[in-house]
Amino acid sequence: MITTILENAIEALNNEDIVAIPTETVYGLAGNAFSENAIKKIYALKNRPDNNPLIVHIKSVEYLNEVAIDIPPIAYKLASSFWPGPLTLILQKNKNVPDIVTSGKATVAVRIPNHHLTNNLLNNLDFPLAAPSANPFGSISPTNANHVFNYFKNEINFILDGGECSAGIESTIIGFADNQPILYRHGAVSIEDLEIVTNGVKIIEHTNQEIVAPGMFAKHYAPRTNTFLTNQISELIKIFPNKKIGLLLLKKTIENKSILHQEILSEKGNLSEAAKNLYAALHRLDNLNLEIIIAEKMPNIGIGISINDRLTRATKK
Ligand code: TXA
Ligand code: MG
Repeated sequence: MITTILENAIEALNNEDIVAIPTETVYGLAGNAFSENAIKKIYALKNRPDNNPLIVHIKSVEYLNEVAIDIPPIAYKLASSFWPGPLTLILQKNKNVPDIVTSGKATVAVRIPNHHLTNNLLNNLDFPLAAPSANPFGSISPTNANHVFNYFKNEINFILDGGECSAGIESTIIGFADNQPILYRHGAVSIEDLEIVTNGVKIIEHTNQEIVAPGMFAKHYAPRTNTFLTNQISELIKIFPNKKIGLLLLKKTIENKSILHQEILSEKGNLSEAAKNLYAALHRLDNLNLEIIIAEKMPNIGIGISINDRLTRATKK
């Protein structure tokens, strides 16, 4: 059931049940991070491989010590600049956090989300919330309560309705090797903005071949419809004559009578607005029974890099 009543969510979570929660990035499937029972339910609902750890959502920076240890100074610096907000930090795990949350890893992913309902919820619980995105493994992330309902129907008792997510793509994930920040996933905070806070310390991209984050799987965030990514839209359309085609474009529609539907992400070409609208546009396109979706590559700067990352994975064959 879709609800805005916080008490429903509090009661369910206290009973080790799962509640879908709004955040500024995407909706999450939340459970008590200290309860193995609750965490097992999350993995089962999502059909998520159990080698993919979850993000732990906490209420305050002071609470960080309950879930992490040996926190490097640069992590505190980033936390104080971006929390509450779409930045996840990978830190050494406190033993309070069950191994199932971190898939047996010695590290734990943590963030303070920035959505009034969920922050309010966290303040009314005496445990943090483990929450992956509220979509079946590999599919398009949800940015409103209806997206979540369409995936899980009544398999979840409560979906807390916080409206449309304001950032619209997942958090940026940063880990540390000593004091060196390492990027695990592009996301709603741009590298440029992070590097302003690290004071010239460059963020290094994680290059290990081992897949450490499902967001790093080659294919992810994928519509069911066959989807392509290009910066030459008109040329690609010609390759599919007589097909039912929909377009995902940054600023403006194109003149072509054979196109059935066109989604514009931001008329102004604003990349943050484009990120906010990205998943909802993909959900709409995917529900139109098209044969082909063609997405336009975004300018590869700022949040455009994160959008291109999602579209690249969404279109992997
Ligand atoms: O914006 C977000 O981060 C959303 C909202 C709900 O907070 N959550 C989200 O969760 O995107 P999920 O589970 O879809 O993605 C979490 C990512 C995964 O790629 C996971 O592998 C990675 O975080 N992760 C979690 N713990 C990790 C760890 N200890 N080391 C490396 N990566 C980790
Ligand atoms: Mg996800």
